[in-house]
Amino acid sequence: MKKVYLMTPGPTPVPDDVRLAEAKPIIHHRTTEFAEIYVRISEDLKVVFKTHNVVLTFLSSGTGAMEGAVSNMLSPGDRALCIMGGKFGERWEEICKAYGIQVVSLNVEWGDYVKPEEVKRMLDQYPDIKAVFTTLCETSTGTLFPIKEYGDIVRNKPNTLLVVDAISGLGACDMRTDEWGVDICVSGSQKGLMLPPGLAFVSVSDKAWRFTETSRCPKYYFNFTKQRIALEKKSPTAYTPGVSLIVALDKSLARIKEEGIDNVLERHARLANATREAVKTLGLSLLSKKPANAVTAINVPSNIDGGALKRTLDKKYGVSVAGGQADLKGKIIRIAHLGYMGEFDIITAISALELSLKDLGYKVELGKGVAKAMGILK
Ligand SMILES: Cc1ncc(COP(=O)(O)O)c(C=O)c1O
Repeated sequence: MKKVYLMTPGPTPVPDDVRLAEAKPIIHHRTTEFAEIYVRISEDLKVVFKTHNVVLTFLSSGTGAMEGAVSNMLSPGDRALCIMGGKFGERWEEICKAYGIQVVSLNVEWGDYVKPEEVKRMLDQYPDIKAVFTTLCETSTGTLFPIKEYGDIVRNKPNTLLVVDAISGLGACDMRTDEWGVDICVSGSQKGLMLPPGLAFVSVSDKAWRFTETSRCPKYYFNFTKQRIALEKKSPTAYTPGVSLIVALDKSLARIKEEGIDNVLERHARLANATREAVKTLGLSLLSKKPANAVTAINVPSNIDGGALKRTLDKKYGVSVAGGQADLKGKIIRIAHLGYMGEFDIITAISALELSLKDLGYKVELGKGVAKAMGILK
């Protein structure tokens, strides 16, 4: 028998009551019973997004809402700034290019983040930039990007939107949509919201709704206006929603409300801190210059095969972590502390890491990292 511990940065573990809610008999979506649930989740999501803006829900992975953010705001030929520094920053550029947007980009070495001054410099150089696309937590490197500071720069520009991919960051890293002047915030179900994959969310500011009026990019399913009108009419969705996922979301949002969003964020901060400090105690280093509280990216020692480390953790100890993407393949492992996770998930992951490192010939004093984590989590 081998018990499996899912420690990847999405999908993440789903609490039992949320899974059971998903297993309830299907109800029809054009009923008052479903409309009530849908209106409630649309309101409760605002608590997590820290916004008064409308939050729309789509039946897709998070990338669908990222694509919608581009296609609903912009027109072919418009200029956009894409802030990169990892796989998901690059995704903004790829989507923009697919819609004929002229992209200027700011890139940094993976593990680093783009400084706000650079964003200001670009906006001064290209005053016609209509949208700045960025990422709260760059999951491929475990890096937190300074959204508040970007917001301070974009906020007073009436012809420029700030669009944030908070797919892995929401519910783990502080995300103050309204306070920071974020016009579009995108997220997904399979991370901090403790659900299976399948739902995408997007909050849309008043300023952003004005951009939809002139946008000429093609769109059909991800038409934000159509979806908003349906929600306003309590219809409540333009097309068949993911009924079971929405019912389960109602449950997971109730859990978040019960714990309190700031306590949820505080829990993530503690788990992240314990993970980082335990890893450093083992003599390992972190990839990120500004680690996010959703996931820790750990440099694999040069004398160890990163693929073998990930396989040992997974196959021998049942701890499923993520490896590196693109050029970082084999060079890092990523341990998530995201969503439905507590102290003993971290203790488990660190102990499995110690055992796996030892198996692969790395000099490790068993229990040293675990003791460090326990000291922080006690
Ligand atoms: C920061 C970030 N952006 C975008 C995505 C893509 O989301 P999805 O796979 O739900 O389309 C992910 C998924 O890992 C992510 O972590």
